[in-house]
Amino acid sequence: MTKKKSQKKRAAPRQAKKTKVRAAKAAPRKSRASQTYDASTQNRIIKLINSSLDIDEVLNLSMDLMENSLNATASSILLHDPDTNELKFYLATGEKKDMLKVIRMPADKGVAGRCFQTGRTLLIPDAAKSPFFYKAVDDKTKFVTKNLIATPLPIKGKRIGVLEVLNKSGGTFTKHDEQRLKNMAQEISVAIENARLYDEVKNAYVQSMLNMAKAERFRDNDTGLHIERCGEYATRLAPELGYEERELENLRVSMMMHDIGKVAIPDSILLKPGRLDEAEMDVMKTHTTKGGQILGQAPLLQLAIEIATCHHEKWDGSGYPQGLKGEVIPLSARLLAIIDVFDALSSKRPYKDPFPPSRVKEILIEGRGTHFDPNILDLFLGRFQEMCAILKNMS
Ligand SMILES: [Fe+2]
Repeated sequence: MTKKKSQKKRAAPRQAKKTKVRAAKAAPRKSRASQTYDASTQNRIIKLINSSLDIDEVLNLSMDLMENSLNATASSILLHDPDTNELKFYLATGEKKDMLKVIRMPADKGVAGRCFQTGRTLLIPDAAKSPFFYKAVDDKTKFVTKNLIATPLPIKGKRIGVLEVLNKSGGTFTKHDEQRLKNMAQEISVAIENARLYDEVKNAYVQSMLNMAKAERFRDNDTGLHIERCGEYATRLAPELGYEERELENLRVSMMMHDIGKVAIPDSILLKPGRLDEAEMDVMKTHTTKGGQILGQAPLLQLAIEIATCHHEKWDGSGYPQGLKGEVIPLSARLLAIIDVFDALSSKRPYKDPFPPSRVKEILIEGRGTHFDPNILDLFLGRFQEMCAILKNMS
């Protein structure tokens, strides 16, 4: 029930994306006459590249436009892996695309390998008669390559891979098609390079925020294992809440930053051995909003921001800082609320010994439907032994 609800809730943006994809796919098919790769097609691709940082979305749409304009049946992007000196299929379209994802080929084999090694664009009108044709890929996928063009993907004087279009409908590719594909390869290379640079910046930014979150824990005489465990509990449970595999690493690091706002809380309050008075508690509560401010408004840290800001909200609306209620509280923050309390109760702190698991369970159940989202709590309690094992292994 939890999974269904959550998936339904999280489906909206993805549906919007699919609609966008369909619209882009449909446009070039309006008429045969429009299926030419002209300046407008290239402009649309450039616009796509500049409008989104989702590299897979950009490349899928670009390849779709390219296939339609060249009347190709399939297309693929192969990237060079310098560690193994192989070409691997980064993206592929056509009926065999899923099988291609796992295929790697030596960087000096086949039409793609020849193209990669020489840096020359190859127009192959009859694949079966080409001395460069590498039949092993067709044998594995049962795809029949009839004709193709392969062109290198250049970045800063180097080649990073190969762009291919295959099997032109109703004929073979022309020299004109070859030139169009070369132009396209330039744009795709830019998109890949931009994505790589974006990832570098993002990773550096996330790492610096993680370091700050860990440093904050040291200040509180904590080894930093609490936040590591929060990341682990969350990624174990997240798939059942509708998170996709590719989202889990972001969820892990975002969970780890949840108390980053405590860096802005004075020692006299954060490290006070006794109970906080009302005024001190008010200051302590600001670690949520301050956490959001520290993480900034960068789109790349949106998940971390919502967790930092909302992890002390309660299901019945009695939490802070905004008193959000029910499913208005972000799913990620509802999950962390349970995880955070479980870990705190189960761990030794300067002011208390760990509670036994049976007592921890009782306290969590007492908060069902008041502090905690009942569906997520049920999921958590159903995996309670596993959560206790994580605690033990990571202490
Ligand atoms: Fe907190």
